[in-house]
Amino acid sequence: MFVIGKSVIRNDAVSKAEGRAVFVADDLLPGMLHAAVLRSPFPHAKILKVDDRPARRLEGVAAILWAKDIPGKNIVHVIRDDQPLLAEKIVRYAGEPVAVVAARDEQIAGTALNLIEIEYKPLPAVTDFEQARSKTAAQIYKDRNTFSHYKIRKGDVEAAFTGAAFIFSGTFRTPYQEHAYLEPQGMIAVPEDDGLLVTGSMQCPFYVQGTVADVTGLPLARVRVKQATTGGAFGGKEDVPSLVAGQAALPAHYLQKPVRLIYRRDEDMISMSKRHPSRVDIKMACDENGKLLAVETKYVIDGGAYATLSPVVLWRGAVHAAGAYSVPNVKVDAYAVATNHVPCGAYRGFGSPQVLFAVESALDELARLTGLDTAEIRRRNLLQEGETTATGYKIVGSCGLTETFEQAMQQSDWLNLKKKFSRQTGPVRHGLGISTIFYGVGLGAGGKQLARTGAFLQIDEDASVQIAVGTTEMGQGMQTVLRQIAAECLAVSYESVAILPVDTSRVPDSGPTVASRATTMSGLAILNACEQVKSIMIAVAAEMLQAAPESVQFRDGCFFADQTKKIFFSHVVKKCHELRKPMAVQGFAVSPDTGWDPETGQGKAYVVYAYATNIVQVAVDVRTGETTLEKVWAAHDIGKAINPQTAEGQIEGGSVQGLGYGLMEDMSTNGERIMNTDFATYMIPTAEDAPRITPIIVEHPFREGPFGAKGFGEQPLMGMAPALVNAIQDAVGVRITELPATAEKVWELLNAGMV
Ligand code: MOS
Repeated sequence: MFVIGKSVIRNDAVSKAEGRAVFVADDLLPGMLHAAVLRSPFPHAKILKVDDRPARRLEGVAAILWAKDIPGKNIVHVIRDDQPLLAEKIVRYAGEPVAVVAARDEQIAGTALNLIEIEYKPLPAVTDFEQARSKTAAQIYKDRNTFSHYKIRKGDVEAAFTGAAFIFSGTFRTPYQEHAYLEPQGMIAVPEDDGLLVTGSMQCPFYVQGTVADVTGLPLARVRVKQATTGGAFGGKEDVPSLVAGQAALPAHYLQKPVRLIYRRDEDMISMSKRHPSRVDIKMACDENGKLLAVETKYVIDGGAYATLSPVVLWRGAVHAAGAYSVPNVKVDAYAVATNHVPCGAYRGFGSPQVLFAVESALDELARLTGLDTAEIRRRNLLQEGETTATGYKIVGSCGLTETFEQAMQQSDWLNLKKKFSRQTGPVRHGLGISTIFYGVGLGAGGKQLARTGAFLQIDEDASVQIAVGTTEMGQGMQTVLRQIAAECLAVSYESVAILPVDTSRVPDSGPTVASRATTMSGLAILNACEQVKSIMIAVAAEMLQAAPESVQFRDGCFFADQTKKIFFSHVVKKCHELRKPMAVQGFAVSPDTGWDPETGQGKAYVVYAYATNIVQVAVDVRTGETTLEKVWAAHDIGKAINPQTAEGQIEGGSVQGLGYGLMEDMSTNGERIMNTDFATYMIPTAEDAPRITPIIVEHPFREGPFGAKGFGEQPLMGMAPALVNAIQDAVGVRITELPATAEKVWELLNAGMV
């Protein structure tokens, strides 16, 4: 390996550091109009009457468009097709779009919004997701307000509980988490060749292409989507950019003029997807040695007003609902419910951080009942090769969970630190917390029809290489590692490989850039393209070497006929061009098969899992309840680190985002609407809050991945919140059951009964 495993300079580093990267808001075209979106102030209401005449008379207003003006389908397709681009008769959440204005500038567009009058009749709303399935709740969706229900039935939990030595049961709750990407949502739609070109900030260009075609009525072939430099996403630019794109495309298509739509931060925060609030009821049992016997979980998430991604978020949560352990008896019931809240969606971890918070907290409490150390109870139950997951899938290969555990234990010096912290006095107490987790890589059985990727690869006459893929860069480092994969496979330098911006007209639909799948899946498509072009080159090299093609081998940048007879890659490239061989090819990869029985939840849910152990050290001030995260040891089995520095960056960024979820990020609603609409009231961690992080990379190669790599981009966030609350319990003896673990909550528990 000459470039795999090296920390080459990131593809996007210099342009971003120098401020040259072009984000969608930087892109101003002559004659471009500016769009703004009118939104519902009510969580559930009937639209009785609208009057946009005063707004239309405003100088500079080019168009005001409503649901009735949509030439195609008023649908933003995700899974269920229940979400309109613009609400027509009923609004179902506060912030729901009802009309789009296009005007000469943003000020005029904003003024026009204020001049539009709508008469609403408020309707009974579902404002508490925990009550959504009760008979007394307003009925807003079929099946008792339930979008989806998944179950897992493995073994016999009732029998296991009867014979168990120790049982813990408890309820855990988690709030919204806002993605807080630095760049808000934005799109530009430009008429082009009887169709539209849409450019913007996004994870999933093919989703955007689908929605723009649906709402305009254009065929897919006349809608071209390009990704602009994307300033953070974290799942928040998975499905919702389709709404933004539809809102820009509608006036652009109607007026045949370029239209730009950039969301304000407050409208982004009230109307875009977030991590689902959840309630998890969990019961966990073990024998006298701490060996897990049974886990029973009821998992409920607040899907919001439309199904959007909730069914698949829920499915992933269900698969992870017994944790990264070998458990013989598992029962899971998971529900995504409908409410009159903003639709929730993808956020790094996709339904698993919530259940893992519950599982990891419960296991700590179970350890206390048995008298075992909280790390020791994990060691006795960690998933190993040859054991089965909760879905009954036997793990074969690439399971480095135990090694992540051992390395994190060793590097943190857990046992000695524990001893040291057991003799503390004074107002500030230190504590250690641990979590051991797993993450199913890729779309799995819940999204397998989308699990394919394409790649374009072209070798130019000078032996430099262009690649293009259908998955996107959002800051995670995908472009860098894909350049490395192509360079390694062709034995050319990293510098000689260029990656082109994502454009739906250049590569086949490669599914969404989600589920930590881009390195693995687009990497495989690139390898496939490289193999195709190499086989063309081998035939030419064989002629040049006057050897049989079967005897020709490619290694170290040369084609060899035997040990001595060789010819350089660059010479063969030249010859291929002379001979007019096709040096531009299309690679393709399809994910290995997965399966799932809806009645029992048994099957190969995912192709492979990534694993992690997080150990954290906190200091809790008993006078205020304030927790400071001091140190993190984060050990991740990622198969193979294509670029170790980028992998460490993921671990560091995810750890800090997990710190936010665990301790700080507190999005509140009054039941009807989100109250935090800016970063003054929604607090996320800053560099000041970042702890000392020790990233530990563990490599148990995934045989079917490119050079052994399996994805892990989401995982660094997932184990942090439970490790943090476990550390707080270790430090001061109180158990936080509802995130985030703010100073107020810790203080209240410390002073329970005293005030
Ligand atoms: Mo990601 S949370 O699977 O967009």
